[in-house]
Amino acid sequence: MNNRCVLVAGGAGYIGSHTAVELINAGYEVVVVDNFSNSDASSLDGIERITGVRPTFVEVDCCDKEALGEVFERYDFSSAIHFAAFKAVGESVAKPAMYYRNNLLSLLNLVELMSEYGRENIVFSSSATVYGDADVLPVTELTPRKPATSPYGNTKQMSEDILRDNVAASDKLRGIALRYFNPIGAHPSAQIGELPRGVPNNLVPYITQTAAGIRECLSIFGDDYDTPDGSCLRDYIDIVDLARAHVVAIDRMVAKLSEERYEVFNIGTGRPVSVFELVKGFEQANNLKLNYRVAARRAGDVTAVWADTTRANEVLGWRAERELSDTLKAAWQWERNVRGIKE
Ligand code: UFG
Repeated sequence: MNNRCVLVAGGAGYIGSHTAVELINAGYEVVVVDNFSNSDASSLDGIERITGVRPTFVEVDCCDKEALGEVFERYDFSSAIHFAAFKAVGESVAKPAMYYRNNLLSLLNLVELMSEYGRENIVFSSSATVYGDADVLPVTELTPRKPATSPYGNTKQMSEDILRDNVAASDKLRGIALRYFNPIGAHPSAQIGELPRGVPNNLVPYITQTAAGIRECLSIFGDDYDTPDGSCLRDYIDIVDLARAHVVAIDRMVAKLSEERYEVFNIGTGRPVSVFELVKGFEQANNLKLNYRVAARRAGDVTAVWADTTRANEVLGWRAERELSDTLKAAWQWERNVRGIKE
């Protein structure tokens, strides 16, 4: 078994591709599996342009256990990261079976194969969504999870439990669930970034597409929340900082540093930022004006959520480092690169 080799399931996607870059930079060999359901092969080219290394790639749907098993036969990675999930809250409400099937089956297959092949370490992409509308802010890893408000959120909670229970039933398996807050930005090289299909659901891609002229006007969903400027508060974490958290999580498990074989970490900045602040920050960082208007609240949005990152800081030795303005510059550079927009 090779402790320097990592399987990245969903490694062609937004978070997966940035993580593949950081793993390669840290000296890991990377095996990417992806079915391109929400990504394409251009991210593999981007990884190669940034690192000089093209990760091994196998086109596999992680819901196909036999096909995924063949990857275990061929490669001897000791660790795996599971990014191979659907992530749109609204779509999950409309197509719950599709979300439960894809998000849970892909993880179940991975967990079973890890045990069957005696592989040891799994990192799972969890989400701040597991906290729901938290009573006390910032949220720590001990903040109780609230009942999920969408099938997507439910798959994150159920997946955490699947990993926890399988680690408990094994004497070898280790698992880390990273609860991401709001991942934004792109690699500073502008070679990889977020490529949402259709109309973006998330704030930053909507902003960059508005700046690029693809969307006419950004709607700010609500200015009457109980917050300092009336818009929602979130914890926006730079994608490269987030990717680095996966590397330290893998390092920790490979080195068997922890007595606990299942651990959970919040991955955020610890700083609440409002929608208005983010929009103004984008305008300032990139020296442009954005077309926006205030619209009605979006159903399902919580007023505020941000992370207490003490545990990640102290236990993982990880903290967010990139300035928000640099993150927002990188987001715009990526959008310009994708659309071929000159300075
Ligand atoms: N927003 C707008 N206009 C937009 C898009 C978003 O004003 O066009 C606002 C939202 O209302 C919210 C903030 O920007 O206040 C952030 O919205 P995102 O959609 O970017 O992110 P969310 O906080 O809604 O979503 C995140 C993760 C999901 C997760 C969800 C759970 O991206 O994976 O938190 O709360 F499920």
